[in-house]
Amino acid sequence: MNRREEPLVLGIESSCDDTSAAVIRGNVVLSNVVANQALHAEVGGVVPEWASRAHLSKIHPVVQAALVKAEVQASELDAVAYTLGPGLQGSLHVGSSYAKSLAWGLGIPSIPVHHMRAHILAHVLEPGPIPSYPFLCLTVSGGHTQLVRVDDPQSMKVLGQTLDDAAGEAFDKVAKLIGLPYPGGPVVDKLAAQGQSDAFAFSRPKMDGYNWSFSGLKTQVLHFLQKEQAADSSFVSRRKEDICASVQAAILDMLMEPLIRATRETGIYEVAIAGGVSANSGLRARLKEAQEEHGWVVHIPPMAYCTDNAAMIAAVGWLDHLEGRQGSLDAAPSPRLPELTTLAGEPAT
Ligand code: KG4
Ligand code: ZN
Repeated sequence: MNRREEPLVLGIESSCDDTSAAVIRGNVVLSNVVANQALHAEVGGVVPEWASRAHLSKIHPVVQAALVKAEVQASELDAVAYTLGPGLQGSLHVGSSYAKSLAWGLGIPSIPVHHMRAHILAHVLEPGPIPSYPFLCLTVSGGHTQLVRVDDPQSMKVLGQTLDDAAGEAFDKVAKLIGLPYPGGPVVDKLAAQGQSDAFAFSRPKMDGYNWSFSGLKTQVLHFLQKEQAADSSFVSRRKEDICASVQAAILDMLMEPLIRATRETGIYEVAIAGGVSANSGLRARLKEAQEEHGWVVHIPPMAYCTDNAAMIAAVGWLDHLEGRQGSLDAAPSPRLPELTTLAGEPAT
């Protein structure tokens, strides 16, 4: 199939606090518009009700902007893909209702997409190179932390995951303790670059198998800060760079250990990272080091495809559309979709 014959797919993402729409043809991204909801920053976390309302007001202009930027008419679309879950219930309802109505009106398939599968399959988009199958993917976002074996786009297995907080959540919670704005991950990343990663020692708990637990780290940092602040009330403001660098080093060591072990135990050295935390400069550097040290072939997503975006949703829509998979109009958004391969879309009969 040459590029002009590839289907034209609109993707819609509304699982959390980003309203996004993208148009792709094959794996070429024609537009990827993301409207972030800055309103949550003032309260230091996402307020679900505010998020739903903001999606409602933004979704139509964002979709229109994506079509205009891609220079296509809605009538040219071949399918509309949207996030079915996991995510915030109200937010998912806005995107999925809009997407299904649009597809129904145009007489084209609507394709429900698993958000975490989309983070992984963002790797099929340009500029590539696309990972060869099978590959291992460390998917690290604000709601999930998973180590996934990807055998092909339709077949994935979660080898391990967090038993409590996600890695992004650990970044955000520690940032909040230090008094940094939400979302804290990118701020911690920036401050960490100016600090000493061995300034303070935080333990790195190990779980069975390829699992993680990050909730203890937050408690450890809380107690550490309480003790230091009691002795010197300017401690946090004086040492925030060193605190961020030390916490980030602990999170990255914890993330890398099962991943390194998994490559040895599975013999799969093709390794990708995905999700919001894959924007972290320290994690990106660790992957490059592993490429040198362990001979991995690493895949680090472009920044635009790390945090939530609709291009990755459209990518899954494209792949599922090629397989003839589509959803029904009564596909219900689900805050918790259990399996990465719970695709919801079934092959058309
Ligand atoms: O994938 P994502 O955009 O949304 C979810 O699906 O959760 O991930 C958001 C998470 C937040 O926790 C945010 O703090 C974190 O990704 N994040 C980062 C960085 N950029 C975003 N964490 C560490 N370093 C970064 N540079
Ligand atoms: Zn995400």
